Amino acid sequence: MIIVIRILLVIFVFFILWQIVARFAKILFYFPAPAFMGPLFDSVLRRKIQPPGIVIERSGIKEGMHVLEVGCGSGAFTTNVARAVGKKGKVYALDIQQKMLQQFENKLSQPENQDLKNIELIKSSAYELPFDDNSLDLVYMVTVLPEVPDKHRALQEVKRVLKIGGSLSLTELLIDPDYPLKSTTIKAGEKAGFVLDELFGNIWNYTVRFKKP
Ligand SMILES: C[S@@+](CC[C@H](N)C(=O)[O-])C[C@H]1O[C@@H](n2cnc3c(N)ncnc32)[C@H](O)[C@@H]1O
Repeated sequence: MIIVIRILLVIFVFFILWQIVARFAKILFYFPAPAFMGPLFDSVLRRKIQPPGIVIERSGIKEGMHVLEVGCGSGAFTTNVARAVGKKGKVYALDIQQKMLQQFENKLSQPENQDLKNIELIKSSAYELPFDDNSLDLVYMVTVLPEVPDKHRALQEVKRVLKIGGSLSLTELLIDPDYPLKSTTIKAGEKAGFVLDELFGNIWNYTVRFKKP
């Protein structure tokens, strides 16, 4: 019993130290989440902490939608989203890092994902979304926006590609070193011209959903 308590204590101390170091580093320098974190993002533990089904439900992702995930990383949520939109829907998975997209491509080549034909991987930045104006039903980001240096520019670009009445869903998790308060996320969305639609979750894990008016 004492050994278990000691191990848990050591894990806790390492976690706190990592949080302090990562948060300071993020304040001092700009860098996207390193690609070596990809397997952790797409792990069983992550799915327990932040179940994809809940993110999909809160984001308002429905069958037949054409959806863009900005900052898909290793694809922790993307395959679930692709199944949720179904054959008539489409998911564009965009990330700025080729190494992240490579991890997602490896995931897609696994036998359990062979049925998925409705995902397109795109290497690009949130500032340059390769879509026509008013062309997408929904854009979602999970622990991404706080990592983008010019959030307003990225949100303006998202607004451009969304259809009128389309949704933007922003999900954040407290253990992310970039974690912003819900009020900060709401302010960023409203400043970019979105209208607040619904709020879900708590301080630990929340989703803010906006509409393009
Ligand atoms: C913390 S990870 C989250 C990945 C994934 N959304 C998840 O929850 O597992 C943030 C991701 O956003 C990507 N990213 C950061 N800045 C970006 C930008 N300006 N444009 C597109 N993607 C970006 C990073 O490369 C990284 O894959």
